[in-house]
Amino acid sequence: MEEELLRLQKEAEQDLASLTEIKELEPFRVKYLGRKSEFTGLMRLLGGVSKEDRPRLGKLANEIKAELENRFSVRKTDIENQLSASGAESTSPDLTLPGRTIPFGKLHPVTQIMEEICSIFEGMGFGVAEGPDVETDFYNFEALNIPKHHPARDMHDTFYVNDSLLLRTHTSPMQARIMENQDPPLRMIAPGKVYRRDSDITHTPMFHQVEGFLVDKKVSFADLRGVLGAFISKMFDDDTAIRARPSYFPFTEPSAEIDIGCVICRGKGCRVCKHTGWLEILGAGMIDPEVFRQVGYDPEKYSGFAFGLGVERIAMLKYGINDIRLYYENDLRFLSQF
Ligand code: FA5
Repeated sequence: MEEELLRLQKEAEQDLASLTEIKELEPFRVKYLGRKSEFTGLMRLLGGVSKEDRPRLGKLANEIKAELENRFSVRKTDIENQLSASGAESTSPDLTLPGRTIPFGKLHPVTQIMEEICSIFEGMGFGVAEGPDVETDFYNFEALNIPKHHPARDMHDTFYVNDSLLLRTHTSPMQARIMENQDPPLRMIAPGKVYRRDSDITHTPMFHQVEGFLVDKKVSFADLRGVLGAFISKMFDDDTAIRARPSYFPFTEPSAEIDIGCVICRGKGCRVCKHTGWLEILGAGMIDPEVFRQVGYDPEKYSGFAFGLGVERIAMLKYGINDIRLYYENDLRFLSQF
């Protein structure tokens, strides 16, 4: 019996010294210290040992077991400490670690500005309509008083699909599309993508416009100025400088381009405003009688104004961005700031 106990002790110590991994700990405990272990079996045999030998062998067995339990617990702690020091996974989760956050997507800054623009005009009673990006030559040009070979076609560097289809160069075709189907009075905006062969720090080949127009009896240029002034003071702030420059569009007469004071350089002059202190944000004017005739409105009875604003330009001014191309490079470090 004594020999058996000492043999088992030696074997257990050798096994214990070779333990290196957490997953080996439990099998070792079951084998040497568990209820069904060889050691427990030997303890049970003590009952059959002679009365003289029983106390000595019982004491020896208890000492061996206590010593083994003690050494096993030290080895277990060593292995766990080594693993956590080397960065490997520990057996229990670290409850002090911060939780994992789920990244949220956001609307693109241009979409956010587009929504803000639309909601300002909706607040002034304008309805919203959308039209096709691939447009006919008729609606993009002819219905807007720009016949074939008209020099104004050169103002739009057009992407043609074929002789009669193109990528719309502005949202103005929506004026004709809506007026054809509805009678005055009308107050509409038409937001959407437009395309031009144009690229530099203030131009991109695809950009967004919001078209707006109002048709009724006795509409004047003062109404146009009033609506645009209200829009600009809501979009920026009340003291944003505004100026109207005489301009030319075949579908409006008179026509104007509206500039606002450059918010990047505060009017001092910078690369974005081409050192003028002003940035053009929209084109506008009184709807040309020829456009009314095309859609069957009586120009003697009705008058109206229209405007088309560049959404990216407004987004640049609003956020102080000096290169329009940043909006389309898809750098998440840039986009996630808005
Ligand atoms: C037009 O497109 C006219 N349809 C606007 C209009 C509507 C006038 C109704 C009268 C009545 P224009 O080409 O100027 O106009 O463009 C309007 C705005 O779009 C510009 O003021 C500018 O802010 C923006 N824009 C023009 N080209 C680009 C471009 N390549 N990239 C980004 N924004 C542009």
